[in-house]
Amino acid sequence: MKIRAAVLESFGEPLAVQEVELAEPRAGEVLVRLHACGVCHTDLYTASGADPSGYAPTVLGHEGAGVVEAVGPDVASLAPGDHVVTLFSPQCRECIHCLDPRTNLCLAIREEQNKGHLPDGTTRISRDGEEIRSFMGCSTFAECTVMPEIALAKVSPEAPFEHACLFACGLSTGLGAAINTAAVRPGSTCAVFGAGMVGLGAVAGCRLQGAERIICVDLSPQRLELARGQGATDLLEGGEGTVERILELTGGFGADYTFEATGNVAVMRQAVEAARMGWGLCTVAGVAGRGETLDVVPRLLITGRRIAGSSFGGVKGRDQVPALVDRYLAGEIDLDPFVSHRISLDEVNRGFELMEAQDGIRSVIEFA
Ligand SMILES: NC(=O)c1ccc[n+]([C@@H]2O[C@H](COP(=O)([O-])OP(=O)(O)OC[C@H]3O[C@@H](n4cnc5c(N)ncnc54)[C@H](O)[C@@H]3O)[C@@H](O)[C@H]2O)c1
Ligand SMILES: [Zn+2]
Ligand SMILES: [Zn+2]
Repeated sequence: MKIRAAVLESFGEPLAVQEVELAEPRAGEVLVRLHACGVCHTDLYTASGADPSGYAPTVLGHEGAGVVEAVGPDVASLAPGDHVVTLFSPQCRECIHCLDPRTNLCLAIREEQNKGHLPDGTTRISRDGEEIRSFMGCSTFAECTVMPEIALAKVSPEAPFEHACLFACGLSTGLGAAINTAAVRPGSTCAVFGAGMVGLGAVAGCRLQGAERIICVDLSPQRLELARGQGATDLLEGGEGTVERILELTGGFGADYTFEATGNVAVMRQAVEAARMGWGLCTVAGVAGRGETLDVVPRLLITGRRIAGSSFGGVKGRDQVPALVDRYLAGEIDLDPFVSHRISLDEVNRGFELMEAQDGIRSVIEFA
């Protein structure tokens, strides 16, 4: 079938929205019609050419929500009409990692996904016979996409698409960092560094876990106000001296749980140093630049601090994303402030510009 999609032709160039060919879903695959898709830093990172593992041409986009239109052979868990959220982090429910509660890093399709292929080593998108690779296994800057069944979470049809798509990436990452990775205990003190989609999700996650105090650190006063709306009790403008200020706010000890959601290794260090001696746990969600390292004085670890990394918030997508969406539908999370701009697929490059200008949290593409 013919679909319109935003193609990254070459790095550093604006995406080109055009008609491409999308083939039928094969075994274990699903054809999804997109209704909404968030524009994320990871899309821009690849478009810019900064990602050394990036490739072109490809259809970017990975924060999709839509409706199943058709399923290929051997698809048992989804049927036409189901509402789905796309998962760059799949869940096969069979591999050694999926069977273990300690991780969400499914092993089933990693290699082919990293190469821009569907699990069988081919792609479904093409143009004049030329293959166009898939991005993060999703390619959701498009009217329709074909994805593996194991990379789709079936969610409540009650959830508006523009909110459902937020669960595809940063929001679930932040929520999961607090709920799964750190498993914040009720009554705790938390400190969240960064108030973008991930950090705000972490603030909401800490609140849902019953944290008593949630300190949020960011450089932007507007973003700190959004953090207050998600449950932050103390707002700090970041920079030098942040660790000392958190220690002052916590009786000299530091926070029970800290979260890093900036991708800046200097901030990661602050997040480690702001964690409490004895049991303070620092959860790192930000993605650092290639080759950068985290500087930590080992004494901080010997005196009881721990550091954990969190990919997609440790969320096992097919099981947990639907549950998170249900919590949102029950009124536990306010997502309106996160959708800052609604744009059309043709305006996708404007979505990048708004992101570079730090204008709002998410621009969401709405498909007509
Ligand atoms: N682990 C994962 O699976 C996963 C998933 C999605 C995104 N990420 C990563 O998480 C990070 C955050 O993503 P986002 O979408 O929220 O990004 P974002 O750019 O919207 O938010 C980052 C925030 O950090 C703030 N910040 C910058 N420097 C700071 C400092 N010195 N002190 C305090 N705050 C500071 C910025 O003002 C901004 O509000 C990125 O590194 C992203 O790549 C990780
Ligand atoms: Zn994303
Ligand atoms: Zn698996």
